[in-house]
Amino acid sequence: MNLATAPAHAWPLTDLRPSPDDILGDALAGLSSTPKRLPSKYFYDAAGSRLFEAITRQPEYYLTRVELALLARRAADIARTLGPRLHVVEYGSGSGRKTRLLLDALQAPIAYTPVEISRATVLDSTARLADAFPGIAMLPVCADFTRPVPLPTPPQPARGRLLFFPGSTLGNFDDHEAVALLAAMRDTLGSGGRALVGIDLVKDPAVIEAAYNDAAGVTAAFTLNLLARLNREVGSDFDLAAFRHRAVYAASRQRIETDLVSLREQSVYVAGRTFAFAAGEAMRVEISAKYTDAGFATLVARAGLRVVAGWNDARDWFGLRLLEA
Ligand code: AVI
Repeated sequence: MNLATAPAHAWPLTDLRPSPDDILGDALAGLSSTPKRLPSKYFYDAAGSRLFEAITRQPEYYLTRVELALLARRAADIARTLGPRLHVVEYGSGSGRKTRLLLDALQAPIAYTPVEISRATVLDSTARLADAFPGIAMLPVCADFTRPVPLPTPPQPARGRLLFFPGSTLGNFDDHEAVALLAAMRDTLGSGGRALVGIDLVKDPAVIEAAYNDAAGVTAAFTLNLLARLNREVGSDFDLAAFRHRAVYAASRQRIETDLVSLREQSVYVAGRTFAFAAGEAMRVEISAKYTDAGFATLVARAGLRVVAGWNDARDWFGLRLLEA
């Protein structure tokens, strides 16, 4: 299909009209708290999404490479376990490389539903896959997936629903938020539904830390882009040269903690308000949890889910877990 001439409504979009993000309100609330923080969901504007794609190609950032290889190597076994005729639902499909591997391996999938908060992004994800999978009904949904999402009904009956949530994106939510997200996933799936979730596993801290401190500085640029975005969108005056990216693995909490550290005493103006930073003051902008099997089982149990199958790469660096209510 020539996308330039395709009508915008080529696919039956279910638009649940999620309330737009309140970037200014969230920034003011985060800057007013002690310690200061900013939500990592705001990393992903157009520039941030491009930088994230570049991160996935850095030699130190093993997560994407290892998960792709794991999916490719175990696809047949995963597909056998999942069975035929599924309605596949995906939260935030990114480049779509993992989706292709899964859809290619599955036996006669019936429908594919990408779920994104942005209408443009969900239509892009659909367009990227529609040509490659003409036999699968494309049923995109524009919605906030941190809440239960009413799913469209495929034109042909599916044998079950599978929610695909790769990338260890779950790790960017704190425990409390992750449990709420998993519980919303369970509601979205309904009875008999299953979820295939990618998780980054606990390993040598040096390996983990290197992944968030790549030598080329792409992750640092990604983190600092958050301030550039705020300057662009809410008219703040963050001096990007006056903050540095710092990502440290906190072994006791089994997570990367990423901060922007103020290099000097300074004031930042946001929407008529002034926020003072001390020299060396850290503002938390992201966490990225790493999991053990026991810890992950406990987490999903808090949301009424259990792990029924799992696949790891040969070094146990990254895992895929199949969850059921
Ligand atoms: C999207 N998410 C799983 C990435 C991660 O590894 O936590 C985001 C990221 N942040 C820095 N590098 C990558």
